Amino acid sequence: MTESIEHVYKIYGNHPLSGTIEVSGAKNSAVALIPASILANSTVTIDGLPDISDVRTLQRLMEAIGGKTTFSNGTMTIDPSEMVDMPLPNGDVKKMRASYYIMGAMLGRFGRAVIGMPGGCHLGPRPIDQHIKGFEALGAKVTNEHGAIYLRADELKGAKIYLDVVSVGATINIMLAAVRAKGQTIIENAAKEPEIIDVATLLTNMGANIKGAGTNVIRIEGVDELKGTRHTIIPDRIEAGTFMIMAAAVGKGIEIDNVIPLHVEALTAKLREVGVEVEEREESIYIPETKKPLKPTDVKTLVYPGFPTDLQQPFTVLLTQAEGTSVVTDTIYSARFKQMDELSRMNVRARVEGNAAIITGPTDLEGAIVKATDLRAGAALVIAGLMAEGVTEVREIYHIERGYSHLIEKLRGLGAKIDRVPKE
Ligand code: EPU
Repeated sequence: MTESIEHVYKIYGNHPLSGTIEVSGAKNSAVALIPASILANSTVTIDGLPDISDVRTLQRLMEAIGGKTTFSNGTMTIDPSEMVDMPLPNGDVKKMRASYYIMGAMLGRFGRAVIGMPGGCHLGPRPIDQHIKGFEALGAKVTNEHGAIYLRADELKGAKIYLDVVSVGATINIMLAAVRAKGQTIIENAAKEPEIIDVATLLTNMGANIKGAGTNVIRIEGVDELKGTRHTIIPDRIEAGTFMIMAAAVGKGIEIDNVIPLHVEALTAKLREVGVEVEEREESIYIPETKKPLKPTDVKTLVYPGFPTDLQQPFTVLLTQAEGTSVVTDTIYSARFKQMDELSRMNVRARVEGNAAIITGPTDLEGAIVKATDLRAGAALVIAGLMAEGVTEVREIYHIERGYSHLIEKLRGLGAKIDRVPKE
């Protein structure tokens, strides 16, 4: 968030939480759906968007290239009819990783794009070689000049693309360009995340011809034109999972509302394994008070439908309440353990070895001053603060506010004592 005064969260921990908490629309869908509107020739309306800074950054980027937008109560309208292929080498594109979707969408519509190398959370190396490989296969010439990526194509032609790494971003980005390419594109070894299905649904309603989204082979027949439509985003499975972990850690009976239980199944299974009761309802999940200590377990992150890397960080906090040693291995982002250093300030007993965190519990957490080093590390620290004895101050919360909509209000609704105050 761009604020002149830095704010922090002050969390007064160890208060039991109960009641209902509502999940917002999926961040990782939102950041692709908004750029997808570039491909339409008339207004696209997206309902249920989360109120997070990444969404506002993208809204500004859509305006910067000539789009006309409105955003209120979670509904964004984007009129892309007067958009132009303006270069975006700097500024807002650098604030978030998902600005790379503007490449695929602009390439699809204009046959060209200039986009600064995307920013986002530092989770170790995050190459975009598979995106580039896909664009090149579709006929684009891609160069990297002074930290910006230049894409140019006289004509996009459908191609068969095998992804060497299963990548959410590359799958969606190639889809965005291929919907307007001539002929058939086949993406093999595609990622299967629910967000990919959501983007494919929007594109299909705009007139695209996409088969197999949600499986590892996606087939796309290019079309000449895409039109505006209205779309409701899916619920955020990572936000839901964060709340499930929080409910297991400090809840006295919490209902997490607006969830597709299938989307969080890997987490549900792991929670049950450590001794947490999880009640799946039609569109919500109920977690009664958990008996402590929990049982230790080993977790390995995998691509969907495996255990998501994004929930590994909050889950490490819950494992401090297990009696014995647990091992969390991240096979997607080997260095995504910056939360562990911060947690050690709160009394957590753990060490990081290679791509794994080894956590020994049970531990009574103690409040401390900690830093959100990235979005999900921040979520992990908020949960730790809610569990801890005393006051926890979480700094650099702009990371958290990139991805969690109205977090303070939502947590207060459960009885949490948490304030957002200027840093002293
Ligand atoms: N990878 C490559 N080459 C590529 C693309 C990816 O080697 O061209 C590697 C990555 O380095 C990583 C793996 O493939 O090891 C998976 O990366 P992926 O492309 O799937 O990640 P992403 O699309 O950049 C999205 C989410 C992340 C989430 C990952 C994994 C968005 C905007 N971001 O990133 O979400 O962790 O998928 O599921 O959709 C978050 O929400 O906190 C977050 C970081």
